Amino acid sequence: MQITLAPMEGVVDHLMRDMLTQVGGFDLCVTEFVRVVELLLPKKVFYRLCPELKNDGLTPSGVPVKVQLLGQHANWLAENAVRAIEMGSHGIDLNFGCPAKTVNKSKGGAILLREPETIHQIVKAVRNAVPKEQPVSAKMRLGFDDTSLAIENAQAIADAGADSLIIHARTKVDGYKPPAYWNWIAKIKQQVDIPIVANGEIWNAADALNCQQQSHCDNIMIGRGALALPNLAKVIRGQEGHMPWVQVKDLLVKYSGYELFGDKGRYYPNRVKQWLGYLSREYTEAQELFDQIKRLRDSESILVEIQR
Ligand SMILES: Cc1cc2nc3c(=O)[nH]c(=O)nc-3n(C[C@H](O)[C@H](O)[C@H](O)COP(=O)(O)O)c2cc1C
Repeated sequence: MQITLAPMEGVVDHLMRDMLTQVGGFDLCVTEFVRVVELLLPKKVFYRLCPELKNDGLTPSGVPVKVQLLGQHANWLAENAVRAIEMGSHGIDLNFGCPAKTVNKSKGGAILLREPETIHQIVKAVRNAVPKEQPVSAKMRLGFDDTSLAIENAQAIADAGADSLIIHARTKVDGYKPPAYWNWIAKIKQQVDIPIVANGEIWNAADALNCQQQSHCDNIMIGRGALALPNLAKVIRGQEGHMPWVQVKDLLVKYSGYELFGDKGRYYPNRVKQWLGYLSREYTEAQELFDQIKRLRDSESILVEIQR
């Protein structure tokens, strides 16, 4: 079983990847999406979203990181994919799942699921441009409005030469509302001959097993579940029990950013609050801590509360 840490824009940044891969159990990370317009993006954009590129594309604990691109222009996506690879990305992932209105309005993310032919052209262009030994994957939802094009889109991706396909088992219209339709992944898998990674609504070891059984996939991707329970990947592998709150607090201290960065405006204070929102699902202490720090704006005073 391979477990990939899901890309989460505005949430899973390099520091979160660092912490969660140090906790362990992950084989691969995917970055937040890099939005590609008609332009070869400057290197600093890639370094900002993926500082691991300065470390051979590895997190400090050695887990490979793959850059994710989002956009509608096949040729520009291909050019930027080549740049990301040259800078050290471990393969390229293409985003066909983002539900954000602003992104969809400019024909990026899930809206492309209405156009299997465009998806085919994008994957083909990127696959042709990137060296063969570097994997190109795509991440899709089951559709935009409904599932009517799910198989066609998956086939478009596979026929274009993608090495694997990650399926978040919901349509754009479903948003993040449970359930995830894992059985749909199995239906797609019957028709498509590339490795598939199942994603969506895996919060504990039982969910992971159910997902594997219903999707007929060994490999899974987890996002929000790993933010709610930082050692979820290890719990799923049967290597550890539920992480105790004291250990989560150590991670929060690190994430507050204070030790590493000092007080850099509101960035880390806001991120800590956001993460506590996810942690509240598994830890009542997280909600209590959130209530204590919600009005604090600087890393230093947040750190004091975390360590209290
Ligand atoms: C806040 C947030 C940001 C996300 N950003 C991305 C992204 O940048 N690229 C992407 O492919 N998916 C993104 N996703 C979708 C996740 O990767 C994943 O497919 C989804 O959360 C379902 O998996 P989960 O139930 O394990 O969280 C995002 C999801 C959330 C909640």
